[in-house]
Amino acid sequence: MDKKIAIIGGSGVRKIFEKEISITNVSTPFGISQPIAIFRENEKEILFTNRHSLPGSKSFEHVIPPHKINSRTLIFALAKMGARRIIAINSVGALKKDLKLGSFAVLEQFIDMTKTRHYTFYDGTFLGHDEILGDTSIVKHIDMTEPFCAEMNELILETAKELKYDIVSKACYICTEGPRLETPAEINFYRMIGADVVGMTLIPEVILARELGLCYSSISIITNYAAGMQERVSFEEVKEVYSRNEEKLKRLLTLLIPKISEDKKCRC
Ligand code: HPA
Repeated sequence: MDKKIAIIGGSGVRKIFEKEISITNVSTPFGISQPIAIFRENEKEILFTNRHSLPGSKSFEHVIPPHKINSRTLIFALAKMGARRIIAINSVGALKKDLKLGSFAVLEQFIDMTKTRHYTFYDGTFLGHDEILGDTSIVKHIDMTEPFCAEMNELILETAKELKYDIVSKACYICTEGPRLETPAEINFYRMIGADVVGMTLIPEVILARELGLCYSSISIITNYAAGMQERVSFEEVKEVYSRNEEKLKRLLTLLIPKISEDKKCRC
């Protein structure tokens, strides 16, 4: 079965799926992948992974910091296992006071402020011919006019509205290198240049997914106000607000997944 849907989420999200078939790690030209669980839901196969899990392990624990995530193994492995569409779960800080803590955002644009990551599969090195990658020695300049899947974004918004959830559409995500949090001066600058939410995990996932022609949409959970907007920002708070809203997220995903057709009508 190919054309699967993949979820990149925290370990709690995995519990919405019941029929786990197996957990695998894929050998990729970029190293061994993070664990990927395969589930069967209403005749569909769903892949689940956690970007923060240890590559080569079968554990979905959060152990790898954002700037050390191997996104090439993650995205390549999902594509190799037949994923055509990816729903990513991201925690974010809000740059605007009118965004509510615990609410969700759907992303339309991003700004990349990261510094040390691997941004492409096509970095000029020939890795042999691979059915997923083709020739990696070619130079690829992919179009990023519409980084997120418009079709899946619509479905996420529609489903959140059915559930009467607070959800922001068309948010712009600014991705920082981390693992430190931002200074208030940085946050003021990011707001000025058009960002709505800030996080550390979107880049380069979204770029690599597009390089392979996969659909990618994010459900971002607003866990805090960004630096300078509240007294302090702590990752304990981020984790706490995320956990408090995980049930809501699970309800959203449970309704959303059956609506996502394996045949795309988008331009991704
Ligand atoms: N900054 C960066 N990453 C984050 C934040 C933040 O305020 N909240 C959740 N992830």
